[in-house]
Amino acid sequence: MLTIGYDLGSSSVKAVLMDVEKGLLLASATVPADEMPIHAPQAGWAEQPPQMWWDYVQQATRQLLIKAPQVLPQAIQAIGISYQMHGLVLVDESGNPLRPSIIWCDSRAVTTGEQALEAIGQEKCFRHLLNWPGNFTASKLRWVIENEPTIYHKARYFILPGDFIALQMTGKATTTASGLSEGILWDFATSQPADFLMQHYRIRPEMLPEIVPNFGIQGELTPRAAAQLGLAAGTPVTYRAGDQPNNAFSLYVLNPGEVAATAGTSGVIYGVGENLVPDPDMRFNTFLHVNHRPEMPRLGALLCVNGTGSMNAWLRRNICPELSYDAMNELAATAPQGADGVQIYPFGNGAERILSNRNAGAQIKGVQFNRHSRAHLLRAAQEGIVFALWYGMKAMQQAGIRFETIRAGHTNMFLSPLFAQTLATLSGAAIELFNTDGAQGAARGAAIGAGLISQAEAFSHLQCLRRIEPKITQQADLQAIYANWEKEITA
Ligand code: XUL
Repeated sequence: MLTIGYDLGSSSVKAVLMDVEKGLLLASATVPADEMPIHAPQAGWAEQPPQMWWDYVQQATRQLLIKAPQVLPQAIQAIGISYQMHGLVLVDESGNPLRPSIIWCDSRAVTTGEQALEAIGQEKCFRHLLNWPGNFTASKLRWVIENEPTIYHKARYFILPGDFIALQMTGKATTTASGLSEGILWDFATSQPADFLMQHYRIRPEMLPEIVPNFGIQGELTPRAAAQLGLAAGTPVTYRAGDQPNNAFSLYVLNPGEVAATAGTSGVIYGVGENLVPDPDMRFNTFLHVNHRPEMPRLGALLCVNGTGSMNAWLRRNICPELSYDAMNELAATAPQGADGVQIYPFGNGAERILSNRNAGAQIKGVQFNRHSRAHLLRAAQEGIVFALWYGMKAMQQAGIRFETIRAGHTNMFLSPLFAQTLATLSGAAIELFNTDGAQGAARGAAIGAGLISQAEAFSHLQCLRRIEPKITQQADLQAIYANWEKEITA
């Protein structure tokens, strides 16, 4: 049973070809080899051209077919898509993008969201949206209406990054309810698109694409897309989800009390609940989980730190371009806990939700030229990222989410033993690292969505590779270092 899963991230497109039934990874490809650029034409902006994503999806697919020459395209039964959340893509009638995508970490619409909150009121926003409008897709679209009316008037649909890939594949503009919740376009009280916010922002209702389920037939590869990808026309697209709910799904985190994490470009802690009370300071958001059904509510409480792998990648580019990430991790571990007083605040990748959408910029503090080396900076960065996550996790705890075990893929910053250990010790939770990633989750989702396999069977090969227990003897010291770090934030 062969399926392809794609994970459209901010720094690359990853594709895998899997036999889900046997739990076999037949081929995987990540493009580009270096990191995909994010354009910032103005401070706080972040854009990527959707056509670049589609080109990389094509290249990755062709690489899969070269790496698995025994597989005939006709044997591939379904396709699943995971994608960077909250972005805005505007397309014309033919599905062509009208401007670069305004992606998740772009901060230009922060004020737009604040004004909407003020006008609509927190009580109504929380009752219907479980969130502030914030800086998400709806507010980004409002920014285009106000600032680029000509583009807005040409637009036929607004869609999310993963919807754009599905549109290129199937020729149909579609989205999902969970996708709309990511854009703060879902009314949780009525289980419908949030008409009142669309009216407030004066978004034309006909710009909303058809809503398809996360699992199920969402469309089929057109002859044109099949030729571009090297796959068979008619192959169904049967799964789609934002990368964070998809990461949780990839780790089989589906039910209340279960928690997943990622530490890619951004770092995310994602807890599943049935009934989540919004944080009054919006340090975490609530979205529909992939397995949500009105009769069995499944919501995802999502806390995001934009400056995670992006902070680490910046350090690599600027202070140790000759080192691999593995070598950086080893070097970081040579510095003592607390990095001998060096502190890093990793907030340099746009408005941070844990800081009420402030775009604080990163800070490096306490460097003594005669004591500290780059090892201290690398350790302080990894600790600072964990501290930023913990700052938000405390709000999740207040909302009743418990951290006993946190599941993550054995990938990105979780490849650093220091990072995983610091998170375990500070939070008191065990970290379990699994042999999976978002693209494999999407391949499993595709098999389930096509009705080829049950959920339990699809995950029967998921394996925990490492379990990291908190080091209780070091917890008090680490908490003291954290408390010192937190002072700057609360100040
Ligand atoms: C989650 C978020 C980021 C993006 C990264 O809310 O904004 O993690 O999904 O792709």
